[in-house]
Amino acid sequence: MISRSTIDRVFETARVEEVIGEFVQLKKAGSNFKGLSPFVDEKSPSFMVSPVKQIWKDFSTGKGGNAISFLMEHEHYSYPEAIKWLAKKYNIEIEETEQSSEEKAQMNERESMFLVSKFAKDYFQDTMLNSSKGKAIGLSYFKERGFTEATIKTFELGYCLDEWDAFTKRALEKGYDLKYLSATGLTIVKENRQFDRFKGRVMFPIHSMSGRILGFGGRILTADKKAAKYLNSPESDIYHKGKILYGLYQAKKEIAKQDNCYLVEGYTDVISFHQSGIENVVASSGTALTSDQIRLVNRLTKNITVLFDGDAAGIRASIRGIDLILEQGMNVKVVQFPDGEDPDSFAKSHSQTALKEYLEDSAQDFINFKVSLLLQESKNDPVKKAGVIRDIVSSISKIPDGIQREIYVQECARIMDISERVLFSELAQLLKKGLQEKSKANKQQSARTQDPNEPPPEYFLEQEQAQMGLVKGGVTAGKVDQLSILEKEIIRILLVFGNEDADFIEEVESEDEDGKITISQRKYSNNVSAEIYVHLQEDEIEFTNPVFQEIYTEIIHQLNQSEQLEVDALVNHSNSEISATVTSIIMDEEKHQLSNWQSKNIEVKSSLEVLPKLVTDAIFNLRRVLIAKKIEALVAEAAENNTVDLDAIKNYTGLRIRLFGKLNRVV
Ligand code: CTP
Ligand code: MN
Repeated sequence: MISRSTIDRVFETARVEEVIGEFVQLKKAGSNFKGLSPFVDEKSPSFMVSPVKQIWKDFSTGKGGNAISFLMEHEHYSYPEAIKWLAKKYNIEIEETEQSSEEKAQMNERESMFLVSKFAKDYFQDTMLNSSKGKAIGLSYFKERGFTEATIKTFELGYCLDEWDAFTKRALEKGYDLKYLSATGLTIVKENRQFDRFKGRVMFPIHSMSGRILGFGGRILTADKKAAKYLNSPESDIYHKGKILYGLYQAKKEIAKQDNCYLVEGYTDVISFHQSGIENVVASSGTALTSDQIRLVNRLTKNITVLFDGDAAGIRASIRGIDLILEQGMNVKVVQFPDGEDPDSFAKSHSQTALKEYLEDSAQDFINFKVSLLLQESKNDPVKKAGVIRDIVSSISKIPDGIQREIYVQECARIMDISERVLFSELAQLLKKGLQEKSKANKQQSARTQDPNEPPPEYFLEQEQAQMGLVKGGVTAGKVDQLSILEKEIIRILLVFGNEDADFIEEVESEDEDGKITISQRKYSNNVSAEIYVHLQEDEIEFTNPVFQEIYTEIIHQLNQSEQLEVDALVNHSNSEISATVTSIIMDEEKHQLSNWQSKNIEVKSSLEVLPKLVTDAIFNLRRVLIAKKIEALVAEAAENNTVDLDAIKNYTGLRIRLFGKLNRVV
């Protein structure tokens, strides 16, 4: 268990914008930051971070909260893991009480797999740096390849002894369960015997974006033709090859800073570049690029530069994957290395400046590159050339932005010496086909006439209502439970203006000497939350929405304790429903900063002048609906029992009339 004081220090120190900045590229938007949602594919930002309030909200999924909840959502951390991560980031020492063996056993499977992977990383590293065999074999291999000690540390490289089960034995001694050694593939279990999967290999640990060990790549040191040069961890609950980019953990900051990501093929390409001062580099690790991998980069930058080894066969195989990058609206450039060189060897044989210059000078726009590459191959062959044109236009059709598509069409027409008209008509056909496929996929959804790239205006509202539990069974689509909306408004006012003072007006009856009653208005100043509390108390109003009721109870509790409403305590509440709902309501106030099309929905933030009216109206509206419901219920009851509680109905009807009269409204 982490001590309370450690948790408190973490809360005091952590800045939500700094934490999220490690995973999402954030841009200033007013007093907030905005960025692309890290939870979905999107082209216009719907993710917002408030440094002032220390909260975030993702408008496309409805998720939101504080720094801790971001780490829990994004990295799938448990609460203590999130605290530990933050403590590490901010150099806060963790006071921890020893874990019992029972607690250890309680950790879930994935956690256990992470633990054993971390142990393996440490063990391989220690073996290489501190054992005699490790130094003589593993370390000297890396040194021969020119890796410095700093590089070896940065990438946490290691060595697995050339013995059958040296690692497995040690792990078992240390109390790690064979089940997880086997689940992570570190140990191969055959009948009753166990072997180290990576026996005799140098080890490249593969990190998640936040630095946890997901798996390993192991390189053989002998020139054994039968054994694979690289061996990787098998697919498991924590290792998904298609969702990992090697080096991303070490590169993420620089990718965001340089606003570009170099994509290479292999482990050693990444490491050599890094050592040559180019740190914004990741590898797909020899597999075909996937959309998931591209999405990882897309959060950090819109620009990818793909680096190709010299051989032409490899290039042709990998340009297919590049359409996937275009589909995500990213800009793609390519750099081709001279024949027989890969990024690793090129970085080794050139100075840092020469490497940087080469990358800058030979970077080519992807479409142009593809055109010239394919044209070379189809020279003077009209049939082949027709195929090339179709191929290129197909790539262009993947680009979501219409203007950019048009520019490419013009450019390609020029390079390929063919009329723009032909290209445009080919493109139109492909786009139409694409749209048809899309609409087939969305058949159950109603047809929309607007730009498919932009969410419709009601989108956020629906998201929000779903999130708030406002759209309930029994309520017809589109209609929302009226009471919940009014309740939400009360909560919103409390959260945003709860600690403000405002001038309210009340009606007082006074009797003069003759016994004549006059009603006059009296102005009084009150705290907004106190005002709301008094009125709701008077009517014994309870919220029908359970989350709102909980928040309200919590607020009243705070007011009783300290006469102050503390929004922070609600944002950081241990009940995640409370913290998510509160964050959501607060961030809605800022939504208009995201982009213009949302501005249709914005409500002008009330200045303090209209605050009294805002409060009175909210209370009035809630009462009005509650009274209407009450009357309805009484009438229904009367119909059922054939007896009429006229007094009660009269009572409520009178109340209603007085209520409306007071506010000069028409019943
Ligand atoms: N790879 C793999 N399994 C293999 C071969 C390759 O997973 N059997 C992956 C590795 O991530 C490797 C990348 O594909 O880094 C590129 O392969 P290759 O070009 O053969 O290796 P290099 O990175 O050049 O490695 P080295 O320089 O160590 O030979
Ligand atoms: Mn190589």
